Amino acid sequence: IQMKVIVCENYDEMSAKAFGVMKELLDAKKDAVLGLATGSSPVGLYKEMIQYHKDGYSYKDIKSYNLDEYVGIDRKDPQSYYTFMYENLFKDIDIDLNNTHVPYGNTETDCKAYEDALSEVSIDLQVLGIGQNGHIGFNEPGTPFEELTHIVDLTENTREANARFFDNDINKVPTQAITMGIGTIMKSKKVLLVANGENKADAVKAMIEGPIDTACAASALQNHADVVVVLDKAAASKL
Ligand code: GLP
Repeated sequence: IQMKVIVCENYDEMSAKAFGVMKELLDAKKDAVLGLATGSSPVGLYKEMIQYHKDGYSYKDIKSYNLDEYVGIDRKDPQSYYTFMYENLFKDIDIDLNNTHVPYGNTETDCKAYEDALSEVSIDLQVLGIGQNGHIGFNEPGTPFEELTHIVDLTENTREANARFFDNDINKVPTQAITMGIGTIMKSKKVLLVANGENKADAVKAMIEGPIDTACAASALQNHADVVVVLDKAAASKL
């Protein structure tokens, strides 16, 4: 199955193109279920979503399910992914906070509860970024593709990459996270992956052109029937 790849001049164009894909769903289905991601990559897409609300669109019946969350960080902590979503999107649109879901916890029971909640809905569009080592959500290299929501030990590479959000101090970056599994992500009807910057070029190449192998978690998406990848020039430079 061929992934649809759109290459853009820069970050703003990438965000606008990605929003174009999402907008089709938002217009067609006022109670769509969105899978959302954190990280700097989708922030521009979220800005477009906010602008669409300012232009009159209502998200009041939209539901959202986030990919992942750190373990050991309070929801109210400024570094939590819950706070990230609130600050970068939820507070500026009219989504009902009761309709927003971010996984939380560190036990099997917490994972199962999130997976059970997800099995009651069906994600129409899953937004993804990609890690420098090809992770999606927090599914690090080597994660079996059939895995559902689970607790992961974060790699050194991922903790370093995220240290910028923790006073550039890797020791402050949590060592574990709760994340949807690749098996969870593959159930979504459509996937929208955004990536920008040269530091993503290798991961993007492995995802699209490499073998389907757990060494690059995102390569699993080659088996998904409906994937749109929106890139800036730098992230696409090795294709
Ligand atoms: C974190 C998140 C991923 C995200 C990745 C890339 O590890 N768990 O979901 O895709 O960072 O982040 P950024 O978009 O900031 O490069």
